[in-house]
Amino acid sequence: MDERAVLEELKKYRKMDLKYEDGAILGSMCTKPHPITKKISDMFFETNLGDPGLFRGAKKLEDEVINNIGKFLNNPNPFGYIISGGTEANITAMRAINNIAKTKRKNHKTTVIMPETAHFSFEKAREMMDLNLITPPLTKYYTMDLKYINDFIEDRNNKNDISVDGIVGIAGCTELGAIDNIKELSKIAEQNNIFLHVDAAFGGFVIPFLDDKYKLDNYCYEFDFSLNGVKSMTVDPHKMGLAPIPAGGILFRDKSFKKYLDVEAPYLTDIHQATIIGTRSGVGVASTWGVMKLFGEEGYKNLASECMDKTHYLVKEAKKLGFKPVIDPVLNIVALEDDNPEETSLKLRKMGWFISICKCVKALRIIVMPHVEKEHIDKFLGALTEVKKN
Ligand SMILES: Cc1ncc(COP(=O)(O)O)c(C=O)c1O
Repeated sequence: MDERAVLEELKKYRKMDLKYEDGAILGSMCTKPHPITKKISDMFFETNLGDPGLFRGAKKLEDEVINNIGKFLNNPNPFGYIISGGTEANITAMRAINNIAKTKRKNHKTTVIMPETAHFSFEKAREMMDLNLITPPLTKYYTMDLKYINDFIEDRNNKNDISVDGIVGIAGCTELGAIDNIKELSKIAEQNNIFLHVDAAFGGFVIPFLDDKYKLDNYCYEFDFSLNGVKSMTVDPHKMGLAPIPAGGILFRDKSFKKYLDVEAPYLTDIHQATIIGTRSGVGVASTWGVMKLFGEEGYKNLASECMDKTHYLVKEAKKLGFKPVIDPVLNIVALEDDNPEETSLKLRKMGWFISICKCVKALRIIVMPHVEKEHIDKFLGALTEVKKN
């Protein structure tokens, strides 16, 4: 095939994809990347951060971008990587917890407390590392029950039983956007010398930029490294950061955690490698760097406010039509109660609307990402009303 024919053929496939701007993608945590990232992707497309000695510019950018993210997460001295996504970031944090636990005790299953609302990437980590996951009950705000955690740890300590190695708190849970009480979890973690990982894959680029007027009394919005117990955090530029996929982020409190991740990599320019993935593109790094410079704090604040305003609009209009949100919006995620979410979402899909459903509660899930406009919300609610009538 000649070049023109190849491109023409590819166009046919691309046409089969949905487009964010059409507004039918209502269940995704990704969105149309910022336009500047097209040029950046082109500039960095052959870079490989798996071999950082060969791509020193891209590696320097990665260090800078981790520092820049660290700044808005109140960490002046972070260590981390821009990797393939939240899944890899969470698995990396679980690797650290597991390897730290192994330095303390052999023949012991690493035990981690996390909520039922945790993303399924943790299930992959459990399976890979044979972790013992403890899931405390949820409060009516869909956050982890702190008393249960305290009692559980105390009980284990009293019995001199196998101790808890890690706690995972979620800052913006996938299904509902709820934020665990990271401040209290941090205290528990510190008191008991437990590693606390915060999954802020979604919330990391929203919560720091959220205007106070959107904050609810029932949630604690402190979630970052200013809390001493927090040792690592997932924060994904390819979600609300407007970077193109793949750009997930893992940040540790400082470089002392690197030794728990390093394996020897003798044939590379750097003789140790800490990331799970070896060969990895520098596009996510450079794009994240670019969008953050261009947007600045002000840009992300405006973005968060725009998404929150549209979220409240969706909730208000949905209520008028008789649909009930599971919780008031914490972030730009809305879950609407539904007695048969599987069936409703399938019917909506046939009408061209792509939402998702919750597992922790019977509900339809809509993410009000930057590409979702009020007119899409109106049309979607019209379709939902029609589905529920039939
Ligand atoms: C809270 C949270 N953590 C982790 C992930 C996984 O991210 P990714 O799909 O980029 O691997 C998601 C994805 O939706 C998420 O919502």
